[in-house]
Amino acid sequence: MKKFLNFAYILIAAGVLFACDGRRRVQIASPDGRTVISFATGDGLPVYSVDKDGGTVINPSQLGFSLSVGDLTAPFRIKKVTRASVDETWDQPWGEEVTVRNRFNEARIELQEVFGKKRLFRIVFRAFDEGIGFRYEFPEQPNLGAFEITDERTEFALAEDHPAWSIPAYRGEYYESLYEKSPVSRLDTVCVPLTMETASGKFIAIHEANLTDYAAMNLYPVDGSTVLRTDLTPWSNGIKVYAKTPFVSPWRTVTLADDLNGLVNSRIMLNLNEPCRIDDLSWIRPGKYVGIWWAIHQDRFTWSQGPRHGATTQNMKRYIDFAASHHLQGVLAEGWNKGWDGDWVSNGSDFRFSEACPDFDTEALSRYAATKGIALIGHHETGGATLNYESQLEEAFAFCSRLGIHSVKTGYVNALLDKKERHSSQYGVRHYRKVIETAARYHVMIDNHEPVMPTGLQRTYPNLMTQEGVRGQEYDAWSTDGGNPPEHTTIVPFTRGLAGPMDFTFGTFNFKNPVHPQTRVQSTIAKQLALYVVIYSPLQMASDVPESYENHPAFEFIEIVPVDWAQTIVLQGAIGDYVATARKDKHSEAWFLGAITDENARDLKLSLSVLDRDRKYVARIFRDDAQANWKTNPAAVVIEDMPVDAATVLDLSLAPGGGAALRIQPGE
Ligand code: NOJ
Repeated sequence: MKKFLNFAYILIAAGVLFACDGRRRVQIASPDGRTVISFATGDGLPVYSVDKDGGTVINPSQLGFSLSVGDLTAPFRIKKVTRASVDETWDQPWGEEVTVRNRFNEARIELQEVFGKKRLFRIVFRAFDEGIGFRYEFPEQPNLGAFEITDERTEFALAEDHPAWSIPAYRGEYYESLYEKSPVSRLDTVCVPLTMETASGKFIAIHEANLTDYAAMNLYPVDGSTVLRTDLTPWSNGIKVYAKTPFVSPWRTVTLADDLNGLVNSRIMLNLNEPCRIDDLSWIRPGKYVGIWWAIHQDRFTWSQGPRHGATTQNMKRYIDFAASHHLQGVLAEGWNKGWDGDWVSNGSDFRFSEACPDFDTEALSRYAATKGIALIGHHETGGATLNYESQLEEAFAFCSRLGIHSVKTGYVNALLDKKERHSSQYGVRHYRKVIETAARYHVMIDNHEPVMPTGLQRTYPNLMTQEGVRGQEYDAWSTDGGNPPEHTTIVPFTRGLAGPMDFTFGTFNFKNPVHPQTRVQSTIAKQLALYVVIYSPLQMASDVPESYENHPAFEFIEIVPVDWAQTIVLQGAIGDYVATARKDKHSEAWFLGAITDENARDLKLSLSVLDRDRKYVARIFRDDAQANWKTNPAAVVIEDMPVDAATVLDLSLAPGGGAALRIQPGE
């Protein structure tokens, strides 16, 4: 109780003063006028609400914090409201589209304590056509220096009890859970992005942007209601955030989309991150890669040294040769360095990031890879021992830079970082940021596994290429529940995928799992191909072993599919059932299309009206054979060519757990 009394709730009971200066209500409309944010003082509490097309989406919802410094107390007065409007575009170095439009109306509302120390803070609201963003700012001021946030009290009072797709925040690790669908009121404490579908078939997604020096946001329903309240991942001592003015919170975002295409094409998260801080981007290159990864997860090779060590010079040369002869760009070397022998999850401090195992000749391999035009991808598994990693960080990336290694996959396998702090805590957020910034200085791209949930930092640091933070294909090698169900990949593009690129690592052609026969990739080959279009990442792995790909006609699709796009359009879909996505290649006039289904067979009719009206095209189609089925006949794939144009309505039959992948390029 005493502790509770020490916490001062800020932002409360401001009504009197708002009434005094007559500015109790501030409204911000989106440029198209459809979305309106209202800020008001309600019953003395500062609250905001959101309407779209005249209907309420978010009822009056509380804003504010609990702080441990005490005495930052209501009443507050609105000192100032500053308005701004922006309409600009910026180009992405890589992405799902090239040019991003950033168009919003903004109100920065400055509040000040009326009595006592008269401290200040601000709430900045931005209304976009696709939704809203808001954040808190604590300016530098004489009476507020260092402080601790013990709770953020931001709420999202949803107007309806929408069905939501979620993963739990504290049950399960690294965001690697299967998504569950349940009404908002029955959610556990869940991670963001949180995606909901309204009764009229529209979509709402709550997330955050620009998580830089703060804890990740989770949400829970207050007393079984539709009011979602913020739960920040704590440090081990229970504090949520250590702050010092001037200080800003991450942005809280609510995307309001008319359909799945609108959801995927919302750029609110990226627009609320800082512009690029890297001048020379020439070394940042999207691409496809292979590696010994799948064979290790299937227990055919090991990370540790010994007779089955995967990352040997000879083995890596074989993978480099394969990549070079199949138009791929990179080869990932997991288990190349010292530290894997023994229990590497418990002994993460043994990892050395610039010392190779004796049977891995780094110098020779980087020379060999260079002669073949292949990029060697390094691997920094830390076992969650971040202090050990940070003590070697400069040396580790200098080592990469010296050897011409421009990408590194990082990893943090351990329930806690340094056996103490959560990955999504402010501690974790600070660590990941440090790694990304250090890597940027040494011109190294990052593929981060076991991350904090992405929030769009790749706009500022485009060397942050892709991340895990999803239950990826590795579960199909060893999980005890049989592997990812076929519906999983129809959900993640609209949930985790809204947070940014995913290193899911598909590409299985051989579905046998000798070590765990009950577990397998629950997909057909055609669906594996389609995932290269449906799930976005600028680094994509062809995860199976070269022996599965050699001489397989369907591998052609993995060779030709791009990883960098000019435009993305979700043609059709239902979360948990099926998805059909079209993307236009950034470097040619070709379109690519991926369609996938859950465990049910499905016939789709897809209009190709996205194509240029004045052109004829040829579609090369990689589809399920009529007999294909993920359980009984996953490899039955048909490859055929078909003339198409913008008037074509394509009939696609997807097998249970199946899919179809198409390249559609100009031609007769
Ligand atoms: C878990 C990662 O997700 C996986 O890709 C990697 O192979 C292992 N950790 C080892 O780093």
